[in-house]
Amino acid sequence: MNPNPQWLDTLLQPPSPITFVWTEGNVESRYSSLPDLHASFSKHTVEWEQSNTHKFFKQLLENLDITVKIDKIVCFGLGFLSNPNQFGERRSHIQHASALTIASTLANRYPYQHPIRIYAQDPRYTDLDKSFLSSVGVTVLRDPNGFLEVDERTLVFSVAPDVCVRQIVADLSRPAAMVWDTVSEDTKEKEEWREEEMWGEMVWVA
Ligand SMILES: C[S@@+](CC[C@H](N)C(=O)[O-])C[C@H]1O[C@@H](n2cnc3c(N)ncnc32)[C@H](O)[C@@H]1O
Repeated sequence: MNPNPQWLDTLLQPPSPITFVWTEGNVESRYSSLPDLHASFSKHTVEWEQSNTHKFFKQLLENLDITVKIDKIVCFGLGFLSNPNQFGERRSHIQHASALTIASTLANRYPYQHPIRIYAQDPRYTDLDKSFLSSVGVTVLRDPNGFLEVDERTLVFSVAPDVCVRQIVADLSRPAAMVWDTVSEDTKEKEEWREEEMWGEMVWVA
């Protein structure tokens, strides 16, 4: 049993039988200024655009057999751009650069009257990340607004999110396309669950 009464209230609130908890911002930022973040993002974008994966990805989008005209891209969990961890920073930059590639490739494919809108939801975005994303045409949304933006003209893009994007999206709408990790087969749970004290509360951990 969890002794914190607030948790019990949260868990019992309708309508979702599952509770999602996330933390926002307040993480250390790798950069102190927008130009520094821009410089690093440009470097990673060049790396991305010169890769074979970029070439393959573009071809895939150009030949996508789809009749719906996609007018919106909604990204989930692409990581925070000013991540002090170099590996995480590079992954996040390349994934956001991929979202821009998706938008420009689809825009070339369809003669749109309006540019394709790009939205991104990740609770870890710092203020600097948000300013940067706004400067490259990406609108940051707070959970759950990203999910609420998804409709039948949306391409959903998500890589290794900490939240079950596929299930939530499938429950709410039917997007035109989704780009994400390979989905593995369900496996029987092997972990053993035990009750432990954590942060002054008893919680179940595996
Ligand atoms: C394992 S990291 C993956 C980051 C990056 N996509 C990568 O591949 O390195 C999971 C990401 O999901 C984000 N996340 C957690 N809850 C989320 C939510 N409710 N909506 C969108 N993103 C979320 C986390 O903040 C984190 O950046």
